[in-house]
Amino acid sequence: MRLLPLVATTLMLALGSAAIAQVPPAKVIETRQANYKQMGKAFKAIRDQYSSGSPDIAVIQKNAAIIASLAPQITSWFPAGTGASAGKTEALPAIWEKPADFKAAANRLVTESAKLKTLADAGDLAATGAQVKAVGASCGGCHDSFKKKDD
Ligand code: HEC
Repeated sequence: MRLLPLVATTLMLALGSAAIAQVPPAKVIETRQANYKQMGKAFKAIRDQYSSGSPDIAVIQKNAAIIASLAPQITSWFPAGTGASAGKTEALPAIWEKPADFKAAANRLVTESAKLKTLADAGDLAATGAQVKAVGASCGGCHDSFKKKDD
């Protein structure tokens, strides 16, 4: 009977998402901002390598892996009810009003950051450097539509 493990897995997944739903909204905001800070730090570390004049591929690989592993999580960082009414956040209401557009913006980073990691792992400094621009455009593309401007 192969159905039972499947039922058990489905149940575990359901319980898992129930547990996530119970995290207080202010905590969800705090956690996602910490995740984005980590992403920002990793991206800066990569750009710093290129502006240093003697880029260290190991540093680039490590930080490309961080971005590539965080990117697929992004859409899970924005459960309903974690907008401005729940705390101090730069997340715009458009995230919840246009979920398909938001998901597309997140997917763009998933694709571009995976490419970045592949190129970095292959040790191709020039191609990785060009791909850094594509990744930056994915960050900016989402921020333009879904993140409040810093003021
Ligand atoms: C799909 C949308 C999306 C993508 C892609 C995205 N961001 Fe963001 N980012 C946001 C939103 C929304 C916030 C505001 C979060 C909040 O304040 O709750 C944010 C916040 C941030 C912050 C501020 C964190 C803080 O509170 O101090 C940094 C830094 C950041 N992003 C860096 C990046 C970098 C670097 C990339 C690309 C590698 C990136 N983001 C890609 C949507 C995105």
